[in-house]
Amino acid sequence: MKTSLLDLLVCPLCLPREIALTAVITAERGGDIGEGALTCPGCGGSYPVREGIAFLDPAARMETKPPSKYETAPVVSSYLWSHYGDILGDPEASSAYAEWAGLVSGGSGAVLDIGSAVGRFAFEMSRTHDFAVGIDNSVAFIRAARELLVRGRKAVALREEGLLTREETVVLPGQWRTDRVEFIVADALALPFRSGSFAAAASLNIADKVPLPLQHLREANRVTRDREAQFLLSDPFSWSDEVARPEDWLGGTATGLYAGRGLDNIAALLAGKDRLLMPPWRVAGRGSAWWKIRTHVNHFELIRSCFVKAER
Ligand SMILES: C[S@@+](CC[C@H](N)C(=O)[O-])C[C@H]1O[C@@H](n2cnc3c(N)ncnc32)[C@H](O)[C@@H]1O
Repeated sequence: MKTSLLDLLVCPLCLPREIALTAVITAERGGDIGEGALTCPGCGGSYPVREGIAFLDPAARMETKPPSKYETAPVVSSYLWSHYGDILGDPEASSAYAEWAGLVSGGSGAVLDIGSAVGRFAFEMSRTHDFAVGIDNSVAFIRAARELLVRGRKAVALREEGLLTREETVVLPGQWRTDRVEFIVADALALPFRSGSFAAAASLNIADKVPLPLQHLREANRVTRDREAQFLLSDPFSWSDEVARPEDWLGGTATGLYAGRGLDNIAALLAGKDRLLMPPWRVAGRGSAWWKIRTHVNHFELIRSCFVKAER
């Protein structure tokens, strides 16, 4: 983990108190912490940094996290294709990440990609902003993203059919600013960052994947600046009671606090409804992007991800 990130970090377990973490570094090279620990003087908690990866997800630390499909090799391979299919020269590649990146205006300050998976959007943001941080609670995803960051390349076994795979290598374009990107393991519901740390935040296809979607929005709102800030949320709104209780969904129900469509409800929350996300945002645009996930050579999922772009 880059040492430049240290100033932004707080203990996720002590939130809403924002207590800075103390770094004990046992291996560092060129401003990159290889091994060490980040400890909280408030609760005494200790978050390891291993092989360059900072583990700031309290659930991972306490080993209470149930196994997730996002930790499996086939799913990592699917996401590497989804994020970097264009770089692999695949004519079927999705253009969704370029579309989402085009919705965030360039500027000074750092960008946070919440649920960054294998990193494409954060890399895109590093081209237009001072710094980009991707967080995800999948260790396998963050490991893959960091391998791309550190080595500039990563082998991927694309499933062809059954057990047959085709080896390809993702090579990041030389002009991408890997010195301006970092990926850490963290929880979208307890972001380990100080309030107002980011000029922009993105939530791409994660709002329907967390047990408390409103808490996810509150955290995205907290860590984003009060002024001159941007927020992009895009989601297919595939609400599922395997992920969150229907009463906690932000849409997709006929009754309840968030009856109706997720995008409408989220736009209203951003605009100041019930004063839950303050200061209020101005909704600057809404639309959708076609996002694709490849399972094998003959099987793709085509997903309409509906976005709202907000500014304040
Ligand atoms: C459907 S994927 C979308 C990934 C990426 N944003 C994209 O659009 O390609 C959902 C992502 O959210 C991550 N995720 C789910 N719950 C999370 C949580 N509580 N904290 C952080 N990441 C989470 C998953 O590991 C996965 O990377």
